[in-house]
Amino acid sequence: MIRVKHIHLYTFAIEYVVVLMEQVTWLSDVDDIFDNLLKKPSIFTNKRVLSHDFIPEKLPHREAEIKRLAFILATALKGGKPSNVFMYGKTGTGKTAVAKYVLKKLIEKGSAIGLSFKYAYVNCRYRKSNYRVIVKILEELGETRVPSTGLPTDFVLDKLIKVIDYKEQLVTIIFDELDWLVKSSGDDVLYQLTRINNDLKKSQVSLIGITNDLKFREYLDSRVLSSLSEENIIFKPYNAQQLYDILKQRARMALRDGTYDDEALKLAAALAAQEHGDARRAIDLLRVAAEIAEREGSNRLSSEHIYKAQDEVDRDVIEESIRDLPTQEQLVLLAITILHRERERKITTGMVRSVYEQLCDFIGYSPVTLRRINDILSDLEMLGIITAPVVSLGRYGRTKLIRLEVPISSVIRAFKNDERFSDVINKKKADIMFKQK
Ligand SMILES: Nc1ncnc2c1ncn2[C@@H]1O[C@H](COP(=O)(O)OP(=O)(O)O)[C@@H](O)[C@H]1O
Ligand SMILES: [Mg+2]
Repeated sequence: MIRVKHIHLYTFAIEYVVVLMEQVTWLSDVDDIFDNLLKKPSIFTNKRVLSHDFIPEKLPHREAEIKRLAFILATALKGGKPSNVFMYGKTGTGKTAVAKYVLKKLIEKGSAIGLSFKYAYVNCRYRKSNYRVIVKILEELGETRVPSTGLPTDFVLDKLIKVIDYKEQLVTIIFDELDWLVKSSGDDVLYQLTRINNDLKKSQVSLIGITNDLKFREYLDSRVLSSLSEENIIFKPYNAQQLYDILKQRARMALRDGTYDDEALKLAAALAAQEHGDARRAIDLLRVAAEIAEREGSNRLSSEHIYKAQDEVDRDVIEESIRDLPTQEQLVLLAITILHRERERKITTGMVRSVYEQLCDFIGYSPVTLRRINDILSDLEMLGIITAPVVSLGRYGRTKLIRLEVPISSVIRAFKNDERFSDVINKKKADIMFKQK
């Protein structure tokens, strides 16, 4: 009996040792992976520096714009109300960075001399309704008890006046990417805010409007425009040399010494300069190139990685712009994509409309009118996602001939990553057209 028990114990012990040894070899594999990773230090020392919302302590080549804005807002340090400012220029020319930078400095200065300043930053691309814009301003000022829908706009506007006017202070409201709000909801709220100082007793409000759309001024009511653009600051595109300086500064902060070629920075700057001098693109190229270099196990970022980064950055930009579209525009684009995938050569407004309406029915949205569909097609054309020239169909009238101008794979990927559309993007036109809900 005892012997049997011993044998059992013995085999058990052997099994145990075998299992342990297996684990040890498995663990050493994993260890190898970790060791290798640790042995090869990352190219990045601080990746956050290359993210879109990082603002460095110095903004090279924007000294004049910074001075101009600081000079306008400085009135506040003497207790006056600064003029409203309208800032415009193409994407990636430093408008958002300059506005936030100067406001931050103004607030620091103010608190050093005992004055109360606050600012509220609203990016209208993500808040396209008047109501949501005001709720966002309230949140920025610390008032978070307002429901995100359901109250009349006048009510939240009154609330805003109370939240601002309880003491002597200056509040600057930055409306970034203002065109998105005005195009989808008009300029009512802007009009009301340009007049808000009439209702304020202790406090004052100054406004900063920012847009990437150079033609946007035409959309504004002349009263709003004249009040908003008491001062204008125009942001010119950066040239290759300026972008190179911006990249050098970022690379020094974000990447380990000796892991990148100067040539690579110059190339990224030159490529971004070709694309209307966009600093965001330059920084994106640098970040993605460094990621590619790491993925390839290379310990040096070279020009070759910058070239490789281009496609990935383009794809990201396209996907981001599709993700940011309003739902109805996404639905129209989805209809175009489905038609395009089925190799329909001549896509007309009528074809888009019929697929679009079926899609709305299929997914559960109410369709918009033909007129609105035509506006949406113009918007998509302005964004460079499609072209849609008007052609004559003889006695059948006129139509737009629609063509997708971005790689269909990017469009499909953007829709696949959106849970509202991920199911429908895989379907054929016939599935949508004939399968009624
Ligand atoms: N002069 C500059 N120096 C350093 N970084 C800059 C400069 N101008 C822009 N950037 C950076 O480039 C990116 C895009 O700038 P941003 O201010 O968002 O452009 P815009 O608002 O005009 O589209 C941001 O990451 C910003 O920090
Ligand atoms: Mg911006």
